[in-house]
Amino acid sequence: MRETIKKFLLRKIPFYSKYYDIDLDKNFHTFRTQKKSYFRKDLSKLSFNELCILFKTDKATLYEEVIYDTKLKKYVRSLVTGHGYSQYYSRVDKKKIKNLVEIGSFEGASGLVFSAYFRKAKIYCLDLTFKNNKLKYKNSIKVQIDQKNKDDLKRFITKNKLKNKIDLVSEDGAHFNEHIINSFEVLFPNLRKGGYYFIEDVILTRNKKVYELFKGKKYKNVADIEIVKSNLNKTTQSGAPQNYLIIVKKRI
Ligand SMILES: C[S@@+](CC[C@H](N)C(=O)[O-])C[C@H]1O[C@@H](n2cnc3c(N)ncnc32)[C@H](O)[C@@H]1O
Repeated sequence: MRETIKKFLLRKIPFYSKYYDIDLDKNFHTFRTQKKSYFRKDLSKLSFNELCILFKTDKATLYEEVIYDTKLKKYVRSLVTGHGYSQYYSRVDKKKIKNLVEIGSFEGASGLVFSAYFRKAKIYCLDLTFKNNKLKYKNSIKVQIDQKNKDDLKRFITKNKLKNKIDLVSEDGAHFNEHIINSFEVLFPNLRKGGYYFIEDVILTRNKKVYELFKGKKYKNVADIEIVKSNLNKTTQSGAPQNYLIIVKKRI
């Protein structure tokens, strides 16, 4: 009974605002009898961070979220500090991105940002499951895969003719050392020369191995490795562990 009421309410109220009902591949949508909103034109002018704020991903400097307020004892629509990784993604020349691989898609918020920002790219969204991801857009492809499985990743590369053709990898999946390393070892060699590999949310207590591996610059064909701090820390969000973003650039 409770489940039925919940389902009914969710159908009636757009409570979870990450779900857009409009078709984002269209140039406009029609509303209130004959009014048309040409949103696509303006969408293409937004910066990477603006898109992250709009589509509510934690790559943004801040974003809107429904959170439980323990003092008010109810859910409230609020603003939450994000990692601010957007500043690093916006350094990438968007005209050069033709194939982007996202590991960990969840509800598709970042996939939507990639899709809107890198208009000329094909976006491969990799995840174990897409049950929470209702989003569809022409330039993105959902791939059900376990990022830990190197053989499956190799098959994904072959099937999609991505050998040495990936321009950007955004890793935001399981966040376990073995998963991160296995994916990197298959996908990095298939980056094009000068391509980028972003590894998000590396936390020292959980990912010391990954942190030290990249700090030690162990891998071949690497032009540069940057380890930068996310905006999330004690001063921006009390109790938040310090997250790091690792940016690996492939040699030209
Ligand atoms: C933090 S969420 C991704 C959020 C998304 N990148 C965004 O910013 O909107 C992590 C996702 O990784 C996926 N994941 C967890 N383990 C995985 C695995 N072994 N292989 C592929 N995806 C995995 C989860 O299902 C989840 O959807």
